Amino acid sequence: MPEIIVTTREGEQQAVVFSPGASLMQSICEGGLDELLALCGGVCSCATCHVHVDEEFFDRLEPVSEDEDGLLSGSGHRRKNSRLSCQVRMTDDLDGMRVTIAPED
Ligand code: FES
Repeated sequence: MPEIIVTTREGEQQAVVFSPGASLMQSICEGGLDELLALCGGVCSCATCHVHVDEEFFDRLEPVSEDEDGLLSGSGHRRKNSRLSCQVRMTDDLDGMRVTIAPED
């Protein structure tokens, strides 16, 4: 099974197995990490699923939508490798990607 490595806000790393087709947010939450609040349930309206993605993998992701871009612009922790994890669809070629949960705004 493909997996990603998630770094928590405390700096702990955890391997999380994912199913291709799931969102990155679902994968992180189902992997047992509860600090990603994902308050809107994945409909791109809360930004509490903000993560920083391994730059090596960033270009393999689907582009940021206008809605996602608008929400990320409201974050004080936006970086060029920021994504809302509910908007990232997992695929086999993301196996090994490293993701860091962004600080809370
Ligand atoms: S879960 Fe709300 S924007 Fe991603």
